[in-house]
Amino acid sequence: MTALTLSTAAVAGLRADAIVIGVAKGSASKPGGPVVAPGAEAVVQAYDGNLAGVLETLGASGAEGEVTKLPAPAGFKAPLVLAVGLGAQPQKDSGYGAEALRRAAGAAARALSGTKKAAFALPLTDPADAGAVAEGVLLGAYSFDAYKDQGDAKNGKAPLAEAALLGGKPRDKAYKAAVERAVAVSEELNRARDLINTPPNDLNPEAFAAVAQAAAKEHGIKVQVLDEKALVKGGYGGILGVGAGSASGPRLVKLSYTSSKAKKHLALVGKGITYDSGGISLKPAGHNETMKCDMSGAAAVFAAVVAAARLGLEVNVTGWLALAENMPSGSATRPGDVLRMYSGKTVEVLNTDAEGRLVLADALWAASQEKPDAIVDVATLTGAMVLALGSRTFGIMANDDDFRAVVREAAEEAGEPAWPMPLPEHLRKGMESSTADIANMGERMGGGLVAGLFLREFVGEGITWAHLDIAGPAFNEGGPFGYTPKGGTGSAVRTLVRLAERAAAGELS
Ligand code: BES
Ligand code: MN
Ligand code: ZN
Repeated sequence: MTALTLSTAAVAGLRADAIVIGVAKGSASKPGGPVVAPGAEAVVQAYDGNLAGVLETLGASGAEGEVTKLPAPAGFKAPLVLAVGLGAQPQKDSGYGAEALRRAAGAAARALSGTKKAAFALPLTDPADAGAVAEGVLLGAYSFDAYKDQGDAKNGKAPLAEAALLGGKPRDKAYKAAVERAVAVSEELNRARDLINTPPNDLNPEAFAAVAQAAAKEHGIKVQVLDEKALVKGGYGGILGVGAGSASGPRLVKLSYTSSKAKKHLALVGKGITYDSGGISLKPAGHNETMKCDMSGAAAVFAAVVAAARLGLEVNVTGWLALAENMPSGSATRPGDVLRMYSGKTVEVLNTDAEGRLVLADALWAASQEKPDAIVDVATLTGAMVLALGSRTFGIMANDDDFRAVVREAAEEAGEPAWPMPLPEHLRKGMESSTADIANMGERMGGGLVAGLFLREFVGEGITWAHLDIAGPAFNEGGPFGYTPKGGTGSAVRTLVRLAERAAAGELS
């Protein structure tokens, strides 16, 4: 990953390959034309005060994510200035905001792939801004080319190797802490992206569990892996039922990070379908090409637990990874089969493609046995949520209005688009089964909410719970934007970390 430093060096004398500056859209007093953002004063001066004019000549507008390259002015050691668009200027004195900085830094870092060292002279107002730029750089520089013989690295497009952040205070504890936090969170988030992007023939449940075990060992996290035998013994009918058709057996991984100063216990549950073919209710062509991403929830939970450990948060965080591969075969669960779940409830499987809720049900019940202060599950659960909220926003459902609001705030603070969704009671009826306690399918309309209602039945009595349906934002099928690459995005990781921080501060409700 890109190496980061906070620097007070004067920009002209900096030995770097590029200087990154911010440019915003013109204001009412200067309509149309771009405006150079604070932090780049020395650069503006070196262009004889007319950098905005030069940028305008080059066609720059300051629009979000726009990248304009220009030769550095005479006297600069760095050869290149890269102006990155920040979008609209902020209201008076409020600063550009963490998310605008994160996105701009990400777009710039991506545009600088193949470059060794860049200095970022973006408008920082406080340590949180420095943390956001650091995250943007580390997340935006990400690339996944492990499976390409002639990958980015070999084609001279290796990720930006070094970034110096200007405008912060390297000796200030708060600035240092913000950058250290950004490094820990971004490294783990990028690792989640790697897991999501790894093809399903190389990442089956057993392989995922092994990765979790190794990381747990490295970071002093307690880990327990239930293999097929242990799952049978424990009566985990949901996880076993989903994994029954695959040659690669399912796993339930429990990661326990504990702090001696913890006052709260947060449980995180992740859907980890390493490949979702749909099972006997097979998905049609066109719907299964990206289904290696169906373990994004488990990847997010895994990353968040490791990040919490690396940050030494004063909270206990237990992560549950419900891992299975959903495949059709002679041993696969059939539509019509009834599963006895870990909770003791029976489920009639009407559609084997509604498998996520089955593995989550067992993991939610397992998590409930420890009576945590709150449980949050994360899952690429329904296409319906993608229809509702699009490809960049995840839905939040909960059995507690206050907690749903807390999760939404955590997402906002993390810079992740998220939106509260209801759990309408009338939709429960559609899941009534003539054979079992409940069916795994209900009404088609509101399918994301139906799935949420199903999960709610497997949360222990009196336990606060929220469900994040990340089916939209987990995997980016379009082009890269801001700090978001193509493919696995690491959706929900930063929200979960923020939530763990809130829990450490005693702010769960
Ligand atoms: N993994 C899918 C949901 C999904 C869809 C994730 C698109 C990412 C992008 C899930 O297991 C699924 O197949 N859900 C079904 C449920 C239905 C059969 C009740 C769906 O949404 O169609
Ligand atoms: Mn499915
Ligand atoms: Zn699925």
